[in-house]
Amino acid sequence: MELNIALLKGDGIGPEIVDSAAAVLEKTAGIYGHKISFAPYPIGGCAIDERGTPLPQETVEGCLASDSVLLGAVGGPKWDGLAGDVRPEKALLGIRSALGLYTNLRPAKLYPALRSASPLKDGIVGEGFDLLIVRELTGGIYFGDRGYREGKYGTEAFDTEAYSVTEIERIGRVAFEAAMKRSKRLCSIDKANVLESSRLWRKTMHGLSEQYPDVQYSDMFVDNAAMQLVRDPGQFDVIVTSNMFGDILSDEASQITGSIGMLASASLGASKRGLYEPIHGSAPDIAGQNKANPIAAILSGAMMLRYSFNLIREAEAIEEAVNKVLDAGFRTADLMGTEKGVPLTCTEMTEKILEAI
Ligand code: IPM
Ligand code: MG
Repeated sequence: MELNIALLKGDGIGPEIVDSAAAVLEKTAGIYGHKISFAPYPIGGCAIDERGTPLPQETVEGCLASDSVLLGAVGGPKWDGLAGDVRPEKALLGIRSALGLYTNLRPAKLYPALRSASPLKDGIVGEGFDLLIVRELTGGIYFGDRGYREGKYGTEAFDTEAYSVTEIERIGRVAFEAAMKRSKRLCSIDKANVLESSRLWRKTMHGLSEQYPDVQYSDMFVDNAAMQLVRDPGQFDVIVTSNMFGDILSDEASQITGSIGMLASASLGASKRGLYEPIHGSAPDIAGQNKANPIAAILSGAMMLRYSFNLIREAEAIEEAVNKVLDAGFRTADLMGTEKGVPLTCTEMTEKILEAI
Protein backbone atom coordinates (compact mmCIF):
# COMPACT_ATOMS: atom_id res chain seq x y z
CA MET A 1 0.00 0.00 0.00
CA GLU A 2 1.11 3.58 -0.67
CA LEU A 3 0.80 6.06 2.15
CA ASN A 4 1.31 9.76 1.42
CA ILE A 5 1.35 11.59 4.70
CA ALA A 6 1.28 15.35 5.26
CA LEU A 7 3.33 16.30 8.32
CA LEU A 8 2.31 19.40 10.25
CA LYS A 9 4.96 19.64 12.94
CA GLY A 10 3.93 23.02 14.33
CA ASP A 11 5.49 24.65 17.37
CA GLY A 12 7.15 23.86 20.69
CA ILE A 13 7.68 20.13 21.11
CA GLY A 14 5.69 19.50 17.89
CA PRO A 15 8.73 18.93 15.65
CA GLU A 16 10.42 16.52 18.12
CA ILE A 17 7.42 14.29 18.64
CA VAL A 18 6.33 14.29 14.99
CA ASP A 19 9.85 13.19 14.00
CA SER A 20 9.53 10.32 16.49
CA ALA A 21 6.12 9.29 15.17
CA ALA A 22 7.31 9.50 11.55
CA ALA A 23 10.30 7.27 12.36
CA VAL A 24 7.99 4.70 13.94
CA LEU A 25 5.59 4.82 10.97
CA GLU A 26 8.49 4.46 8.55
CA LYS A 27 9.87 1.41 10.30
CA THR A 28 6.44 -0.21 10.57
CA ALA A 29 5.63 0.46 6.92
CA GLY A 30 9.00 -1.04 5.93
CA ILE A 31 8.39 -4.23 7.92
CA TYR A 32 4.95 -4.79 6.40
CA GLY A 33 5.95 -3.86 2.84
CA HIS A 34 4.23 -0.48 2.45
CA LYS A 35 5.60 2.56 0.69
CA ILE A 36 5.39 5.63 2.88
CA SER A 37 6.28 9.24 2.08
CA PHE A 38 6.13 12.40 4.16
CA ALA A 39 5.50 15.96 3.00
CA PRO A 40 5.99 18.68 5.64
CA TYR A 41 3.89 21.86 5.69
CA PRO A 42 4.00 24.83 8.07
CA ILE A 43 1.23 25.47 10.60
CA GLY A 44 0.75 27.61 13.70
CA GLY A 45 3.26 30.06 15.11
CA CYS A 46 6.11 29.01 12.82
CA ALA A 47 3.81 29.64 9.83
CA ILE A 48 3.02 33.10 11.21
CA ASP A 49 6.76 33.80 11.41
CA GLU A 50 7.54 32.42 7.95
CA ARG A 51 4.41 33.23 5.96
CA GLY A 52 2.51 35.79 8.02
CA THR A 53 -0.48 33.49 8.52
CA PRO A 54 -1.02 30.51 10.88
CA LEU A 55 -2.64 28.39 8.15
CA PRO A 56 -1.11 29.05 4.69
CA GLN A 57 -3.15 27.98 1.67
CA GLU A 58 -0.26 25.70 0.67
CA THR A 59 -0.75 23.76 3.91
CA VAL A 60 -4.49 23.28 3.31
CA GLU A 61 -3.84 22.16 -0.28
CA GLY A 62 -1.01 19.84 0.80
CA CYS A 63 -3.30 18.17 3.34
CA LEU A 64 -6.11 17.83 0.80
CA ALA A 65 -3.66 16.18 -1.63
CA SER A 66 -2.39 13.74 1.02
CA ASP A 67 -3.87 10.41 2.15
CA SER A 68 -3.72 11.47 5.79
CA VAL A 69 -2.27 14.09 8.11
CA LEU A 70 -0.06 13.85 11.20
CA LEU A 71 0.11 16.93 13.40
CA GLY A 72 2.29 17.88 16.37
CA ALA A 73 1.04 20.92 18.29
CA VAL A 74 0.66 24.65 17.77
CA GLY A 75 1.09 27.78 19.85
CA GLY A 76 3.44 29.28 22.40
CA PRO A 77 4.04 32.42 24.46
CA LYS A 78 5.65 34.18 21.50
CA TRP A 79 2.28 34.44 19.74
CA ASP A 80 0.02 34.80 22.79
CA GLY A 81 -0.47 38.52 22.33
CA LEU A 82 -1.92 38.21 18.81
CA ALA A 83 -5.59 38.84 18.02
CA GLY A 84 -7.90 35.80 18.05
CA ASP A 85 -8.20 35.27 14.31
CA VAL A 86 -4.44 35.29 13.67
CA ARG A 87 -3.37 33.13 16.63
CA PRO A 88 -1.69 29.73 16.00
CA GLU A 89 -4.71 27.93 17.53
CA LYS A 90 -6.89 29.36 14.77
CA ALA A 91 -4.93 27.20 12.31
CA LEU A 92 -5.88 24.06 14.17
CA LEU A 93 -9.56 24.93 14.10
CA GLY A 94 -9.14 26.02 10.47
CA ILE A 95 -7.52 22.82 9.22
CA ARG A 96 -10.08 20.62 11.03
CA SER A 97 -12.84 22.60 9.41
CA ALA A 98 -11.19 22.74 5.94
CA LEU A 99 -10.82 18.94 5.97
CA GLY A 100 -14.41 18.45 7.24
CA LEU A 101 -13.24 16.58 10.33
CA TYR A 102 -16.31 16.69 12.55
CA THR A 103 -15.41 13.65 14.68
CA ASN A 104 -12.64 13.60 17.25
CA LEU A 105 -11.85 10.26 18.88
CA ARG A 106 -9.85 10.53 22.11
CA PRO A 107 -9.23 7.20 23.79
CA ALA A 108 -8.03 7.30 27.41
CA LYS A 109 -6.93 4.11 29.07
CA LEU A 110 -4.86 3.33 32.10
CA TYR A 111 -1.79 1.26 31.25
CA PRO A 112 -1.22 -1.18 34.13
CA ALA A 113 2.49 -0.27 34.04
CA LEU A 114 1.66 3.40 34.61
CA ARG A 115 -0.69 2.95 37.53
CA SER A 116 1.70 4.72 39.91
CA ALA A 117 1.77 7.77 37.62
CA SER A 118 -2.01 8.22 37.88
CA PRO A 119 -2.98 10.82 40.48
CA LEU A 120 -5.97 8.64 41.45
CA LYS A 121 -5.78 6.29 44.45
CA ASP A 122 -5.69 2.53 43.79
CA GLY A 123 -9.15 2.15 45.31
CA ILE A 124 -10.59 4.54 42.73
CA VAL A 125 -8.71 3.18 39.76
CA GLY A 126 -9.88 -0.34 40.70
CA GLU A 127 -9.59 -2.68 37.72
CA GLY A 128 -8.40 0.24 35.59
CA PHE A 129 -10.36 2.08 32.94
CA ASP A 130 -10.50 2.29 29.17
CA LEU A 131 -12.75 4.96 27.77
CA LEU A 132 -13.31 6.66 24.45
CA ILE A 133 -14.32 10.29 24.22
CA VAL A 134 -16.13 11.14 20.99
CA ARG A 135 -15.88 14.91 20.70
CA GLU A 136 -17.78 16.96 18.13
CA LEU A 137 -15.06 18.96 16.39
CA THR A 138 -16.34 21.49 13.86
CA GLY A 139 -19.36 23.03 15.58
CA GLY A 140 -20.44 24.61 18.83
CA ILE A 141 -18.97 27.60 20.57
CA TYR A 142 -15.49 27.26 19.01
CA PHE A 143 -17.08 28.02 15.63
CA GLY A 144 -20.13 30.10 16.59
CA ASP A 145 -20.86 33.80 16.15
CA ARG A 146 -18.58 36.00 18.19
CA GLY A 147 -17.65 39.60 18.59
CA TYR A 148 -18.11 42.69 20.68
CA ARG A 149 -21.30 44.58 21.47
CA GLU A 150 -22.73 47.03 23.95
CA GLY A 151 -24.21 45.29 26.98
CA LYS A 152 -25.62 46.17 30.39
CA TYR A 153 -22.15 46.90 31.81
CA GLY A 154 -20.70 48.57 28.73
CA THR A 155 -18.76 46.90 25.92
CA GLU A 156 -18.75 43.12 26.20
CA ALA A 157 -17.33 40.21 24.23
CA PHE A 158 -19.49 37.22 23.32
CA ASP A 159 -19.22 33.73 21.83
CA THR A 160 -22.16 31.56 20.81
CA GLU A 161 -22.88 27.86 21.28
CA ALA A 162 -25.09 26.55 18.47
CA TYR A 163 -25.82 23.00 17.30
CA SER A 164 -28.15 21.76 14.59
CA VAL A 165 -29.95 18.41 14.58
CA THR A 166 -27.82 17.45 11.56
CA GLU A 167 -24.57 18.04 13.43
CA ILE A 168 -25.78 16.26 16.57
CA GLU A 169 -27.04 13.23 14.65
CA ARG A 170 -23.82 13.03 12.65
CA ILE A 171 -21.60 12.83 15.74
CA GLY A 172 -24.19 10.77 17.62
CA ARG A 173 -24.12 8.04 14.98
CA VAL A 174 -20.34 7.82 15.18
CA ALA A 175 -20.60 7.40 18.95
CA PHE A 176 -23.36 4.77 18.82
CA GLU A 177 -21.42 2.82 16.18
CA ALA A 178 -18.27 3.03 18.31
CA ALA A 179 -20.23 1.80 21.34
CA MET A 180 -21.54 -1.16 19.30
CA LYS A 181 -17.94 -2.21 18.66
CA ARG A 182 -16.96 -1.87 22.32
CA SER A 183 -18.92 -2.71 25.47
CA LYS A 184 -22.19 -1.20 24.13
CA ARG A 185 -22.37 1.57 26.73
CA LEU A 186 -22.70 5.21 25.70
CA CYS A 187 -22.95 8.28 27.91
CA SER A 188 -23.86 11.61 26.31
CA ILE A 189 -22.65 14.64 28.24
CA ASP A 190 -24.38 18.02 28.09
CA LYS A 191 -25.68 20.89 30.18
CA ALA A 192 -29.35 20.43 29.33
CA ASN A 193 -30.44 21.86 32.69
CA VAL A 194 -29.24 25.28 31.48
CA LEU A 195 -28.42 25.43 27.76
CA GLU A 196 -30.98 25.34 24.94
CA SER A 197 -28.38 23.85 22.58
CA SER A 198 -27.85 21.03 25.11
CA ARG A 199 -31.60 20.38 25.28
CA LEU A 200 -31.64 19.86 21.52
CA TRP A 201 -28.50 17.73 21.85
CA ARG A 202 -30.18 15.51 24.47
CA LYS A 203 -33.47 15.20 22.57
CA THR A 204 -31.63 14.27 19.38
CA MET A 205 -29.45 11.70 21.15
CA HIS A 206 -32.54 10.14 22.73
CA GLY A 207 -34.10 9.87 19.28
CA LEU A 208 -30.98 8.15 17.94
CA SER A 209 -30.81 5.79 20.91
CA GLU A 210 -34.09 4.22 19.74
CA GLN A 211 -32.26 3.10 16.61
CA TYR A 212 -29.59 1.41 18.74
CA PRO A 213 -31.59 -0.71 21.20
CA ASP A 214 -28.50 -2.81 21.99
CA VAL A 215 -26.61 0.20 23.33
CA GLN A 216 -27.11 1.01 26.99
CA TYR A 217 -27.56 4.77 26.67
CA SER A 218 -27.40 7.37 29.44
CA ASP A 219 -26.91 11.11 29.73
CA MET A 220 -25.11 13.19 32.31
CA PHE A 221 -24.57 16.88 33.04
CA VAL A 222 -21.05 18.03 32.33
CA ASP A 223 -20.29 19.24 35.86
CA ASN A 224 -21.30 15.86 37.26
CA ALA A 225 -19.27 14.12 34.53
CA ALA A 226 -16.13 16.06 35.48
CA MET A 227 -16.63 14.85 39.05
CA GLN A 228 -17.51 11.25 38.11
CA LEU A 229 -14.34 10.97 36.00
CA VAL A 230 -12.18 11.33 39.09
CA ARG A 231 -14.59 9.48 41.42
CA ASP A 232 -15.13 6.35 39.33
CA PRO A 233 -13.68 6.48 35.79
CA GLY A 234 -14.42 2.78 35.26
CA GLN A 235 -18.15 3.55 34.94
CA PHE A 236 -17.57 5.07 31.48
CA ASP A 237 -17.01 3.34 28.17
CA VAL A 238 -17.90 5.62 25.22
CA ILE A 239 -18.64 9.29 25.94
CA VAL A 240 -20.11 11.63 23.33
CA THR A 241 -20.10 15.36 23.82
CA SER A 242 -19.84 18.80 22.28
CA ASN A 243 -16.69 20.50 21.07
CA MET A 244 -15.97 22.52 24.22
CA PHE A 245 -17.03 19.91 26.79
CA GLY A 246 -14.97 17.31 24.91
CA ASP A 247 -11.95 19.60 24.91
CA ILE A 248 -12.13 20.03 28.67
CA LEU A 249 -13.08 16.47 29.66
CA SER A 250 -10.40 14.91 27.45
CA ASP A 251 -7.65 16.83 29.23
CA GLU A 252 -9.07 15.59 32.53
CA ALA A 253 -9.34 12.01 31.24
CA SER A 254 -5.77 12.11 29.99
CA GLN A 255 -4.31 13.23 33.29
CA ILE A 256 -5.92 10.40 35.25
CA THR A 257 -4.16 7.93 32.94
CA GLY A 258 -0.89 9.21 34.38
CA SER A 259 0.16 11.81 31.85
CA ILE A 260 -1.29 13.98 29.15
CA GLY A 261 1.75 12.81 27.17
CA MET A 262 0.07 9.45 26.50
CA LEU A 263 -3.13 10.41 24.72
CA ALA A 264 -3.53 10.14 20.98
CA SER A 265 -6.43 11.38 18.91
CA ALA A 266 -8.00 10.89 15.51
CA SER A 267 -10.04 13.55 13.75
CA LEU A 268 -12.25 12.07 11.06
CA GLY A 269 -14.82 13.16 8.53
CA ALA A 270 -16.68 11.62 5.64
CA SER A 271 -13.56 10.45 3.77
CA LYS A 272 -10.69 8.20 4.83
CA ARG A 273 -8.38 11.17 5.21
CA GLY A 274 -7.99 12.04 8.86
CA LEU A 275 -5.87 14.25 11.04
CA TYR A 276 -4.01 12.54 13.84
CA GLU A 277 -2.49 14.40 16.74
CA PRO A 278 -1.57 14.02 20.38
CA ILE A 279 -4.08 15.79 22.60
CA HIS A 280 -1.34 17.60 24.52
CA GLY A 281 -0.18 21.03 23.46
CA SER A 282 3.14 22.46 22.36
CA ALA A 283 4.65 22.45 25.90
CA PRO A 284 6.89 25.49 25.31
CA ASP A 285 8.51 25.02 28.74
CA ILE A 286 10.30 21.86 27.57
CA ALA A 287 10.52 22.55 23.82
CA GLY A 288 13.86 21.85 22.17
CA GLN A 289 15.20 20.06 25.26
CA ASN A 290 14.60 16.50 24.10
CA LYS A 291 12.43 15.86 27.20
CA ALA A 292 9.01 15.41 25.58
CA ASN A 293 7.12 12.13 25.72
CA PRO A 294 6.70 11.00 22.08
CA ILE A 295 4.17 8.25 22.92
CA ALA A 296 0.98 10.26 22.26
CA ALA A 297 2.29 11.20 18.81
CA ILE A 298 3.44 7.64 18.13
CA LEU A 299 0.04 6.25 19.15
CA SER A 300 -1.59 8.88 16.92
CA GLY A 301 0.41 7.34 14.07
CA ALA A 302 -1.00 3.93 15.03
CA MET A 303 -4.52 5.38 14.97
CA MET A 304 -3.80 6.70 11.46
CA LEU A 305 -2.86 3.22 10.25
CA ARG A 306 -6.05 1.82 11.77
CA TYR A 307 -8.61 4.46 10.73
CA SER A 308 -7.27 5.93 7.49
CA PHE A 309 -5.63 2.83 6.00
CA ASN A 310 -7.35 -0.06 7.77
CA LEU A 311 -3.90 -1.49 8.55
CA ILE A 312 -4.89 -3.20 11.79
CA ARG A 313 -1.89 -5.52 12.23
CA GLU A 314 0.46 -2.62 11.66
CA ALA A 315 -1.37 -0.41 14.18
CA GLU A 316 -1.27 -3.21 16.73
CA ALA A 317 2.45 -3.70 16.17
CA ILE A 318 3.05 -0.10 17.25
CA GLU A 319 0.68 -0.33 20.22
CA GLU A 320 2.29 -3.57 21.36
CA ALA A 321 5.75 -2.02 21.09
CA VAL A 322 4.62 0.86 23.32
CA ASN A 323 3.19 -1.63 25.84
CA LYS A 324 6.38 -3.64 25.85
CA VAL A 325 8.56 -0.61 26.47
CA LEU A 326 6.34 0.61 29.31
CA ASP A 327 6.18 -2.88 30.84
CA ALA A 328 9.96 -3.02 30.73
CA GLY A 329 9.96 0.07 32.94
CA PHE A 330 11.15 2.72 30.49
CA ARG A 331 9.78 6.18 31.30
CA THR A 332 10.04 9.73 30.05
CA ALA A 333 10.07 12.43 32.74
CA ASP A 334 6.29 12.97 32.72
CA LEU A 335 5.70 9.27 33.46
CA MET A 336 7.98 8.97 36.49
CA GLY A 337 5.19 9.31 39.10
CA THR A 338 6.66 8.16 42.39
CA GLU A 339 9.31 6.06 40.66
CA LYS A 340 12.99 6.85 41.07
CA GLY A 341 15.68 6.82 38.40
CA VAL A 342 16.77 8.77 35.38
CA PRO A 343 14.04 9.39 32.79
CA LEU A 344 14.60 8.72 29.09
CA THR A 345 14.84 11.56 26.61
CA CYS A 346 12.41 11.86 23.72
CA THR A 347 14.89 10.30 21.28
CA GLU A 348 15.82 7.50 23.72
CA MET A 349 12.16 6.59 24.21
CA THR A 350 11.67 6.63 20.44
CA GLU A 351 14.69 4.31 20.01
CA LYS A 352 13.27 1.87 22.57
CA ILE A 353 9.95 1.75 20.76
CA LEU A 354 11.64 1.37 17.36
CA GLU A 355 13.64 -1.59 18.72
CA ALA A 356 10.46 -3.19 20.09
CA ILE A 357 8.61 -3.18 16.76
C1 IPM B 1 -7.15 20.46 21.64
C2 IPM B 1 -6.67 21.87 21.83
C3 IPM B 1 -7.28 22.74 20.77
C4 IPM B 1 -8.78 22.61 20.86
C5 IPM B 1 -6.85 24.22 20.80
C6 IPM B 1 -5.35 24.37 20.82
C7 IPM B 1 -7.46 25.00 19.67
O1 IPM B 1 -6.96 22.31 23.10
O2 IPM B 1 -6.90 19.89 20.57
O3 IPM B 1 -7.75 19.91 22.56
O4 IPM B 1 -9.42 23.30 21.64
O5 IPM B 1 -9.33 21.78 20.18
MG1 MG C 1 -7.65 20.76 24.37
